Amino acid sequence: MIFKQLFDQETWTYTYLIADPANKEAVFIDPVNTHIDDYIALLESHGLQLKYTLETHVHADHITAGGLLRQRLGAQTGVSHLCGAETADIQIQDGDIFTFGNGEKIKVIATPGHTRGSISFLWRDHLFTGDSLFIGGCGRTDFQGGDAGALYDCITQRLFTLPDETLVYPGHDYQGRWVSSIIQERTSNPRLAGKSREQFIEIMANLNLPKPRLIDEAVPANRYCGLDENERQDAVAAREIARPVRNVTTTEAMVAEAKQFITEVNVATSQQLIAEGNIVIVDTREESEYAAGHLDAAVLLPRGVLEFKIGAMPQLADKSKAVLIYCRSGNRSALAALTMQQLGYTNVLSMAGGYEAWQKG
Ligand SMILES: [Fe+2]
Repeated sequence: MIFKQLFDQETWTYTYLIADPANKEAVFIDPVNTHIDDYIALLESHGLQLKYTLETHVHADHITAGGLLRQRLGAQTGVSHLCGAETADIQIQDGDIFTFGNGEKIKVIATPGHTRGSISFLWRDHLFTGDSLFIGGCGRTDFQGGDAGALYDCITQRLFTLPDETLVYPGHDYQGRWVSSIIQERTSNPRLAGKSREQFIEIMANLNLPKPRLIDEAVPANRYCGLDENERQDAVAAREIARPVRNVTTTEAMVAEAKQFITEVNVATSQQLIAEGNIVIVDTREESEYAAGHLDAAVLLPRGVLEFKIGAMPQLADKSKAVLIYCRSGNRSALAALTMQQLGYTNVLSMAGGYEAWQKG
C-alpha cells in the first residue's frame, strides 16, 4: 500500500494519502487547497487515480482542496452530513464505509465535540482523528457547535476502545510529532488520561484560546468544498455530468447491495426463532440506542466496531451458530450481517424493519 503523511507548514495541518498500488485507486484525507499542484504531481508520479477526498470536519484554519480535486480529477468529496456542506458529493454518516483499491475499507467513526460534524476515519490499524484527538491533546470545543462533554464521550468510548496498537494520525500537531497510538493517548494524554468527564469539561472551558486566524474565511469556503463562486458553478455542472456514471458509495447503495447477499427475516419469524432458542441475538446499534431499549438477551455490538469487538465476544465464538442481528430500521443490520458473513459466520439473519418494527409487533 501507499501511505503518505503530508504537512502544511502554514497551518500545521496533516493531510493523508492512501492508495492501493495494485489498482491505483487513491484517497485523500483533509487536503489543503494551497497544495493542489503538489497533490496532482504526487498522484501522477505513482500513476494513481483519486477516488475520494474525505474531510474530518469543516475546518476553521485552512481551506480544503476537496472541491478543486473534484474539479480537476473527478474525485468525489465526502463530508459529514452534520457539517452543512451541501455541495459535497457524499453526506457521510457514522458507520459508513468507503471502499477503494483491492478490498480496502475506510470506516467512519463519528467523533463530535470539536465540531458537531467531526468524524474520524479508520483504515486498517490507522486512525485519522482530525481535530478530535491530538497527540497529547485534543481539538478545542468553543466554536462551530463544539461540545466538550460529547468529545470526552466519543474519545473515551469509541476511540480508546479500539485496539491498543491502533496508530493515531491527528489533523494537526504543533510540535513536530507525527503519529501516536491508542494506548499512548489513553494512558498519557494529559487532558484525558485518568480524567473524569467533569474534569475534562473544566479543562476545556478554561483554555482561553484566541480565535483562529482564518475562521471567517475558511468555514464558509469549506462548506462549499473550498471553491469560490465561479468554481462552484463549474463544479455543479461537472458533477451533474459525472455523477450517474460513477460508482457512488452512499449508505443506501451499500445497504441495497448488502441485501442481495444476506438473509432477512421479518419480526414474526424472528419471534418464532427466539422462542425456539439456540440463537444469539445481536443489537448492532449504538450504545445509547441500546440503553434506551433493546430485545431481551440481545448483546450489544455496534456496527462501527464490529470487526474489532467480535473476536472477544464468547457468545459469537462459534461461527456456525445461528445469529439474529437487528438495528433501528434494518439497514445497519444488513451491512453488519454481510460483514459477519465475510468474517465466516454461516448462519446470520438480519431482522427486517429492525427494532422499530419489533416494537410495533
Ligand atoms: Fe478544526
